[in-house]
Amino acid sequence: RGTYDFVVAANRLPVDRHVEPDGTTTWQTSPGGLVTAMESVMRDREGAWVGWAGFPGEAPEPFDDGPLRLVPVPLSAEEIADYYEGFSNDTLWPLYHDVIVPPTFHRSWWHCYRAVNERFAEAVCEVAAEGATVWVHDYQLQLVPAMVRDRRPDLRIGWFNHIPFPPVELFAQLPWRASILRGLLGADFLGFQRPDDARNFRRACRAVLGARAAGDQVRWDGTDDGRTGAGPRTVRAASVPISIDASGFQRLADSPEVCERAREIRESLGDPDVVLMGVDRLDYTKGIRHRLRAIGELFEDGDIAPPDVTFVQVATPSRERVEAYRTLREQIEATVGRINGDFSHLGDTAVHYLHQSYPREEMAALFQVADVMLVTPLRDGMNLVAKEYVTARHDGGGALVLSEFTGAAEELRAAYLCNPHDIEGLKETIVRAIRDDPAEKSRRMAALRRRVRRHDVQTWAEEFLAALASAPQRPRGRS
Ligand code: G6P
Repeated sequence: RGTYDFVVAANRLPVDRHVEPDGTTTWQTSPGGLVTAMESVMRDREGAWVGWAGFPGEAPEPFDDGPLRLVPVPLSAEEIADYYEGFSNDTLWPLYHDVIVPPTFHRSWWHCYRAVNERFAEAVCEVAAEGATVWVHDYQLQLVPAMVRDRRPDLRIGWFNHIPFPPVELFAQLPWRASILRGLLGADFLGFQRPDDARNFRRACRAVLGARAAGDQVRWDGTDDGRTGAGPRTVRAASVPISIDASGFQRLADSPEVCERAREIRESLGDPDVVLMGVDRLDYTKGIRHRLRAIGELFEDGDIAPPDVTFVQVATPSRERVEAYRTLREQIEATVGRINGDFSHLGDTAVHYLHQSYPREEMAALFQVADVMLVTPLRDGMNLVAKEYVTARHDGGGALVLSEFTGAAEELRAAYLCNPHDIEGLKETIVRAIRDDPAEKSRRMAALRRRVRRHDVQTWAEEFLAALASAPQRPRGRS
């Protein structure tokens, strides 16, 4: 048994190892919303974080990062291909995001997913003290709750899903649907972004396992299709929407360096009247192609034109070995090339496309430059860019165009909401966000900023941990 009372398990550690050309090693913050959110929650907490260090082969020894113990889990090159790129990002990711691209089902990927989940569960059990709280994250580790519980019935186990949970009509396609649900039901509390995600999960338990669901609880007798589970128990599944470290991000955005950098960026763009912006991981869920279609047509219709209006798209490189991501990149880059070929002039670029990842300071500066921020995913668990953007606009300026299909839209009702599939509607919403009365825009921004300030990442973590602490006690041990 270990010594840590609080253990986080996530696919990635909060840092990735980078080997510089001269052979020196540095650790850099991992990409994505999960790490961004959890990093600030864990900053003042003592505990262990179990996760993959981001490269193949042997894992480094556990090491300390401030008050945090980082426990690297090794993944071989084949496991990265089958568990991470395969099952996590080519089976579960598209299935859980409304099958925007078709999910791929391979039995060998599933076997590898199970084996890697076992390894995470073992690592958790090794560091967790008697009676510790274990917080498992996201779709990559859905079997971990039951695997940990089987080994260590003394632990309190919570799981949070950073991405959507699909309607049962889609989830039912998964050949291993019952195993996934059984894995999750090993937890005491399951947190989801939206009430609909929690509802989808409870419906799946009913339809697939024949469990009973009443209110936000699922009651399961631990058996289905002849297999014996871990005995009867009740698990709560409810929505606890994630947020950002609002005061920390606002402080960063307020700093003189970031404000100066924002001025520089605006100047280097030729000081246009209106900067439109998108900031996303390069992912098909983010709706970048639909956004570019709308922007391209707005240039074509003459509603917007450089140098007065320019569009900046930051597309952070992501999952580049998965084919759907490679194809998407080619499509996006061809489209950007076409739009620029048609509408840029020497010195006046229509679309500034940046396939790069930037430190948080640069992001905060970019957000300040965006007069209209386009957050238009086809499906997104939450979308923290929307929350970071409104927080960075401490001048009260700016406007947020936000897809209805994000978790963020449930809370950020004062945004200019849109359906990204409706190109005509999207164009109208963008134009409206550009031209609306400044008083109306600042009223909306004030409401958005208030919402994020009141419901920040600390409130989220407290809500989750309180729900976990008060979740129904389950009988100890296996029946
Ligand atoms: C989303 C997921 C995270 C993931 C991140 C980055 O935010 O919810 O679990 O870490 O994307 O993706 P990657 O595959 O690079 O970890």
